[in-house]
Amino acid sequence: MKKAFIFDLDGVLVSTDRYHYAAWKSIADEEGIYFDETINNRLRGVGRRESLKIILERAPRTYGEEEERALAEKKNERYRASLENLTPADRLAGVSETLEALRRTGALLAVGSSSKNARYILGKIGYGDYFDAVADGNDIVNGKPDPEVFLKAAALLHLSPCDCYVVEDAKTGIDAAVRGGFCAVGIHDAAGYDRADHAIKAFSDLLGL
Ligand code: BG6
Ligand code: MG
Repeated sequence: MKKAFIFDLDGVLVSTDRYHYAAWKSIADEEGIYFDETINNRLRGVGRRESLKIILERAPRTYGEEEERALAEKKNERYRASLENLTPADRLAGVSETLEALRRTGALLAVGSSSKNARYILGKIGYGDYFDAVADGNDIVNGKPDPEVFLKAAALLHLSPCDCYVVEDAKTGIDAAVRGGFCAVGIHDAAGYDRADHAIKAFSDLLGL
């Protein structure tokens, strides 16, 4: 087993995906833009403005910079409102026990998320002070598939990428991990992605790495 685990947040530790989808769907509907769960899968791990650009690929007209900024802001307000009700019960299956068990092995635990809401979400699910390092969308210039957010987390842990697993549910996150020299572990949507070094079915399978 390696010295540390760097976890993606949305879709790996907590089930915020449905809130992202609902907020983007309401914006797309208002704008008359077709948007569905399949297109939503392309937004996994992708930053807010880049996500909007993917949605706008289906728009019947072009949007200016200021309009895009306002739409991204509106989406975030709706998303933030839905996050208010998050509690520790929204941690995904197996997360609480597995993180505790990994910690008992002496492994360091970190978060590497594209989200600018990561620290707010961690607080809501009772993990405000839990991780040894947190790097998120506020700390980076280049989003996944650039490895910047994971490299930042590894630097905060004072470890090299080769000493760390990155646990991801997004293909774009696996690409980022591989590019950065990490050991990439795919779960959920990314479990079937052949670029991942390991695929796990359940979060607790991390204990068997
Ligand atoms: C990622 C999600 O974790 O964060 C993406 O998988 C999301 O769907 C991205 O777009 C940015 O999130 P936020 O909270 O900064 O809008
Ligand atoms: Mg994710």
